[in-house]
Order: sequence, then C-alpha cells, then structure tokens
Amino acid sequence: MNPSTLTVHTQFQIGEVDPRIFGGFLEHMGRAVYEGVYQPDSKHADADGCRTDVLGALRRLGYTAMRYPGGNYASGFHWMDGTGPKQLRPTVRELAWQSIETNQFGTDEFMALSRKMDWTPMLTVNLGTGTPEEARNWVEYCNAPAGTKYANMRAANGNRDPFGVKLWCLGNEMDGPWQLGHVPADQYAIRAQQAAKMMKDTDKTIETVVCGTCSIRLPTYMDWDRTVLEHLGDYADYISLHRYVGNPHPNYGNCENTADYLAITNSIDQQIEEMDAVCRFVQAKKRSKKRAYLCFDEWNVWYKNMQMDGEGKFAPHLIEEVYNLEDALVVAGFLNSFVRHADSVKIANIAQIVNVIAPILTQGDDMLIQSIFYPIEMMSKRRSGTALRVVVDGPRYDSDLYGTVAMIDSSVILGHDVNGEPVLHVFATNRSQTEPAPVRVNVSDRTLSALIDGEIVTGPNAKVANSYAQPNVVVAQPFGAAVVTDGQAEFTLPPLSFAALSFRVR
Ligand code: AHR
Repeated sequence: MNPSTLTVHTQFQIGEVDPRIFGGFLEHMGRAVYEGVYQPDSKHADADGCRTDVLGALRRLGYTAMRYPGGNYASGFHWMDGTGPKQLRPTVRELAWQSIETNQFGTDEFMALSRKMDWTPMLTVNLGTGTPEEARNWVEYCNAPAGTKYANMRAANGNRDPFGVKLWCLGNEMDGPWQLGHVPADQYAIRAQQAAKMMKDTDKTIETVVCGTCSIRLPTYMDWDRTVLEHLGDYADYISLHRYVGNPHPNYGNCENTADYLAITNSIDQQIEEMDAVCRFVQAKKRSKKRAYLCFDEWNVWYKNMQMDGEGKFAPHLIEEVYNLEDALVVAGFLNSFVRHADSVKIANIAQIVNVIAPILTQGDDMLIQSIFYPIEMMSKRRSGTALRVVVDGPRYDSDLYGTVAMIDSSVILGHDVNGEPVLHVFATNRSQTEPAPVRVNVSDRTLSALIDGEIVTGPNAKVANSYAQPNVVVAQPFGAAVVTDGQAEFTLPPLSFAALSFRVR
C-alpha cells in the first residue's frame, strides 16, 4: 500500500479533550449491576459487596462520567425504591427488560462505588412514568445539606454529607416508541422543562442533559431535537446522542461487509456534526449566549446478541455481546471521532461497562476482558490535552453506505508529560484487511524527537475474539516499531490494526 501522511500543526487546534468523553454507563439491566459490579456472594466481593476483580479491570479504563441507573430501566424506576435499609426495599417487576429487580443496589451504593472508583456520577431521572417533582426530590436527596425532608433521608441512610451530583439526564430515549412513557417531542419538552426548572431551583449548580434523537433512523430525527432545544432554551446544558452499530448493517440484512463496517466513522462524524448544527441553529434563532453541547451518552457495537427479554428472572443474561477484532477497531473509530469533535462532544458514555454489551464479562468468579477493552484503555491513558486537526493524505476506498474513507482513521492529541514537556499522542487504525499500511507523522511547525511508547491491537482476521478458553487472542501489545528521523515519525501498521503512540515533540 502507498504511504499515508498524517499532518498536524500545533496551532490548528480543535479544542481541549474533555476527559468525560471517556465515560461509562451502568444500567440495571441483565447482569450489569448484579453479578457485574455487585455480587456480595462472590469470592471477589469487598466489604460493600462489589467485585474487586471487575473494579480492578474497570479502573484500567479510567472511566470518568458514569451514567446510572438507565437507559430504558430509568423510565420505570422510582428512586426511593433503591434507598433505605436493604431488607425494607421492595422487589419489583421491571418492565423495560421484563426482569425482577430487588433494589439491593441503589443510589447510596452507586455513590459509594463512584467514590471508590473516582467516577463522576451522572443520574438519569425518570421522565417516563415518573414526575418532574419526583426528579426534583432526587436532586434534594443527593445534593442538599441535611435539614429538609429528602436530604434528611439521605443523612438517616448514613450519608450526612451531600453527594454533589452535577450531571443529570432528563429521561432516556423519550423519542423511542419502546420507551415507557414515550411521548411526542412537544410533550417531552414540556415535561423536561418542568423537571429542569425544579431540579435547578433545588440546586443551581447542576447540569442537565436533554434527550435528543436516540436513533438516526427514527423519522423524527432533527425535528425532535430542534423542538426540544427550542422549548428548553437555557435549561438544556447538553443534548444526548445514542448510536449502536454492527456488521451486518441493518440495510444489508444478513450480509456482512467489513470494509463498510470500518467506514462507519464517516457516519458517526456526520451524526455529531448534524446534532451540533441543531444546537447552533437554536442558539442563533434565540440570539442566546448559551450553546448546548453534545453528550453521546450511549454508544457501542451491538448487533449479535438481541436477547432483551428477562422472562421474569433476576439478573438474566441479556445482550451479552461477544466482541471480535473488527468490533474493537470500530470502538477505536468512535473514540477517534469524539476526539476529532472535541469542540462539541463534551461527554460520552460507552454502553455499557460489564456483562451487558461490555468490554468485560463475568462467569461465576471468572472474568474475561474482551477485544473492545484495549482501544479504550490505550486512548484513555493518553487522553489529556488538546485535539489537533489531522489531515490524512494517502490511499482511500469507497464504501457502499458511508462514502469515501481514508485507509487510515486517525485522531491526534497534543498533551504534556508529568514534567510539563509536550507530548504528541497519535491514534491510527489501518482499515485494510490485507495490506500493511506505511504511515508518516508530520507536525508541520515542530519536530518529533523520539517515540516514548506505543501499543497496538491486531489479529489474523476480523473475526478473532477472546474467550474464557483463549483470553489473549486480541490484546494490546507494545508497539515500538516507529522510527523518528528528521523530525518525522514513520511506522507500518499491520492489516486490521489500531495503534496508539506517544512522541516527544520540540
Ligand atoms: O444500552 C441498552 C439500551 O439501549 C438502553 O437501556 C437504552 O437506552 C438503549 O435503547
């Protein structure tokens, strides 16, 4: 393959990378909470009943904002059920996933876990079957000093100090006909505005995420978003985007197409830019100083396991997707896209973190790290800094659904090491299934002086995956094969690979 050149200039900056784009999502669905993060009868359980093996793996991913408790679950969840003495908490029928919910893990347990993990809690209020007032009461429970009704309840439950939850999602996927309490845009907008007003009256420092269109295939795409943003006005700090992708693409029926699947980043870029356009449209129309930013609060690969009916069971096995190499490259593509849009995407949460469409699976006391874990880990540890515009000059190909893409998908962050010395982090995916790709990195106003370190994830074909029997088929490996000469770096990416490299820059 002909070489590709990645050109950046340190003055051509997109924006600071918000660490919250490395967020996660923990839903009361399947075995995400129970048998995932929380399993008091596991040999790995700590004093709070949390699985230390799972938490250890999650810690490696450096998650920031953690969305909880749903998802669709949130639209039938009444937060008071998950508070107070555990033996008094009700066991309920859970309608979103047709499961049994014991409420043994609730707000106080999630806050303790967030503290333990250094997560920024992000709560989704119930605007499906709940009321704006119930949402407002939850803000008081979490954030008000003791002395009033709900804050006193928190204190009585052992937490005298407020939790200080800053991020609040105003419902979940309210445009989806499957959602409990789904309503048209104008009705959701009224509900959300009422909730936001009361919630912000209770705590002026909180930030809200309004429900945007949850699928680009819904007919209300963009109209929903405009209606909601126009009605909410300055009450909307962020608008949500959701995206699940797969190979086969829904348009192909059962056919697979790896080249197209890897080109899906074009469509993720487009979704972000379209949603940002609505935010700017509404801001301009209202002559407002305030711009709503983007919160990509559900994203991932999900298409193989569609078991969503819990059949009345507690902690059923739901959507336990097994991920392969091409899925890992697509996950890297999502993250590259978020970095490339650092000026508009401020929060993003991979859905989800354990067992349910997740980088980590558990089975009894065993745990498996899946392929998609590695690109998240590789990028998360190199995430701080400023995203730079990167121009990729090199071979391209035409995809069937997403237009023309460069063979190399990339993003670049200009950061610093612990001594304050500048470091350039380069992320690059070779989409070719057959050919190695020579890559040159050129910083047009600086010189690269040395490779600090690099990692790569690759494999013999797109379908290889880790399993309990063979857990190390798709893993990150050290990648030191970058040569720095005359201020530029050169390396060759194997077919179907994703690399993260950090260079000294002068
Ligand atoms: O992440 C699984 C589900 O996907 C979420 O509960 C819902 O919001 C989305 O449809």
